[in-house]
Amino acid sequence: MTELPDFKVIEATEDAATALTAAQEGGEILRAGGLVAFPTETVYGLGADATNDKAVASIFEIKGRPTFNPLIVHVKDEFQAAGLAEFNDIAQKLAHAFWPGALTLVLKRKQGGPLSLVATAGLDTVALRVPAHPIAQALLHEAGVPIAAPSANKSGYVSPTQALHILMQFKDREGLNLIIDGGPCSVGVESTILDVSGDAPVLLRPGGVAVEDIEAVVGPVKTADTSDSGEVTAPGQLKSHYAPSIPLRINVNPEDRLKGESLITFGPDMPRRAALNLSKTGDLKEAAANLFTFLRALDMPGIRGIAVVPIPNEGLGRAINDRLERASAPKDGEKTAGPPKYHDPIGNIQI
Ligand code: TXA
Ligand code: MG
Repeated sequence: MTELPDFKVIEATEDAATALTAAQEGGEILRAGGLVAFPTETVYGLGADATNDKAVASIFEIKGRPTFNPLIVHVKDEFQAAGLAEFNDIAQKLAHAFWPGALTLVLKRKQGGPLSLVATAGLDTVALRVPAHPIAQALLHEAGVPIAAPSANKSGYVSPTQALHILMQFKDREGLNLIIDGGPCSVGVESTILDVSGDAPVLLRPGGVAVEDIEAVVGPVKTADTSDSGEVTAPGQLKSHYAPSIPLRINVNPEDRLKGESLITFGPDMPRRAALNLSKTGDLKEAAANLFTFLRALDMPGIRGIAVVPIPNEGLGRAINDRLERASAPKDGEKTAGPPKYHDPIGNIQI
């Protein structure tokens, strides 16, 4: 293929044959330097050939992403990964235990390898992930190249967990050539990012694999602390990220909801008026899978803010709390997050 096709969406939820056709078309587009949005089990990715500088640069352009923020490179298996990065013992153990899956490993990049320096933002490390989703796997096989793919949203906004979310974000389609619709993502929050390029593993972002499960394989994991130096190792650690456009307050008791605010709850015995429950049974996996869809559903005119009840900080709850903290942080140009500027008693909106 020399010319890139016009934008289209392929629905690949019905049967394996459609999924394969979609992956074949997607693979051709990627090899020709185009952009393909595709499902992974965590969130949808916006993919380009990770060895093609120009294609990778167009990802940064259409997302409005700062070029210092490196992309995750997706590979089909450990063997392809081993061609791109150095694996120490810890990295090997983790890859065996969690790939394919929702774990991204930051590793020393192999010198002179084929990866675009634009994808890795010029760092001497690279973030690698082997996704488990069958469509992502098929696409990687068909493309035959590693795929650089951030989440398929505009920079700073909530990650897409359904193909429709991508269509809503990229209304003018910008340089997008294909969206493969694989239905809703089963995990629903982004991958856990672990830096294993040094002697001890460091957690850069909690995500779809629980830290407790990682520690069961490699022992204690440190958490990156950016508070001293202010230096950002994973720019996804930028304070305001994954944010809806209306104010969001966390750790709110249901009775302290403000007028015009909608509530996100968790667990049994929660109020139902103007509220969405992440998991009525208190299942953190179900809650993670619902989180971004709920944030989007409530981010609409007429709703003045979102209040979220406390979520247990264990297992996938850590990833949920991390995303909620960022979503509630002040956005660029704002000095403080602060509560929304209205203090009336509870409103009456129904959702
Ligand atoms: O679940 C996911 O991880 C999804 C799917 C599509 O794979 N991808 C995703 O990508 O969330 P993105 O770009 O939205 O977030 C990737 C994060 C960014 O915060 C980036 O700074 C960090 O990974 N990252 C990438 N390369 C890195 C590196 N060499 N060192 C440290 N952090 C890195
Ligand atoms: Mg992202």
